[in-house]
Amino acid sequence: MRAVTLNYQTRSLRQREVPDPVLARDTQVLFRILEVGVCGTDRELANFRFGEPPAGEEFLILGHEALGEVIAAGSAVHELKPGDLVVPTVRRACVPACVSCARSRRDLCVTGAYTERGILQAHGYFADFAVDEAADLIRIPAGLAGFGVLVEPLSVVEKAIQTALRIHEPGVGSAIVTGAGPIGILAALALQLRGIEVTVASLEPENSPRAALIREAGIRYTTFGATAVKADIVIEATGAPSAALQSVRMLRPLGTMIALGACVADGRISFLDLVVHNQTIAGSVNASPESFAQAVDDLGRFPAATLRAMIHRVPLQDFENSILGPPDPHPKLVHTL
Ligand code: BGC
Repeated sequence: MRAVTLNYQTRSLRQREVPDPVLARDTQVLFRILEVGVCGTDRELANFRFGEPPAGEEFLILGHEALGEVIAAGSAVHELKPGDLVVPTVRRACVPACVSCARSRRDLCVTGAYTERGILQAHGYFADFAVDEAADLIRIPAGLAGFGVLVEPLSVVEKAIQTALRIHEPGVGSAIVTGAGPIGILAALALQLRGIEVTVASLEPENSPRAALIREAGIRYTTFGATAVKADIVIEATGAPSAALQSVRMLRPLGTMIALGACVADGRISFLDLVVHNQTIAGSVNASPESFAQAVDDLGRFPAATLRAMIHRVPLQDFENSILGPPDPHPKLVHTL
């Protein structure tokens, strides 16, 4: 089958032929990959900033945002059948399972010895077929076929929002999402759905296509730094350290900021402000089973026109440009296989 891979010996990104995966246990499912989304993590991986191939192998099959169709299921699988649409979860438990992995919260793994499909020591889904344990697959209603590829990134957003709402004292009325990439836009849509007044702040000019897309969804958009907005919840989805530092200053008293995108920032944070105003900064990665379920639920309620406008579909062969090329005006590039 075709696979888009990173070779860690030659440090190169290329398509290659690999053997088709086969069912090895009766609890597993074989599925055809229909679509694979590309995100900032894939770009980081392709620049060899992080990620690792499976132990003893030279290459890693990329792809962790996928939508597939079940081809065959093992005899012990009762919840999925051929023709069903599925989205795989990304993270696999550490062995032996830590306290979090043992209770199905691999997203909170405490040993760091987890693997992640398409990212860390496990092949991903940028290939014609894949096999997974049925328990690692989320069933997607047929009506969501056009947007199912967004379930994985949305699950990451749902976990961040659940965390923010859990930490914040009652009375959340407003939120700012910093960053107008796919994560930022999905976060804004999910917050809006919860009746929270949302502003997206980003570096994109006011007349950019992304700003227009956000406004058309009924969400306020502002260029970073243009106005001194503050909110109860700030979701940082910029990937830009300086913007992340500015995000901290957007917190109102009792405010909670969730960092999702930034790496290392050089700058000053006032712990005094955090103390005096009872503010919290928390990080969040990956997603819980609950946040995957919430993502499927929310996706069916988001405005379809916004979701359609977010996605630009390209064929598999365009992988070099979508992973290494300049950013696309559409927030989400999706490969059809
Ligand atoms: C993925 C997560 C993953 C994280 C860190 C993100 O792009 O969506 O599932 O845990 O990267 O590897």
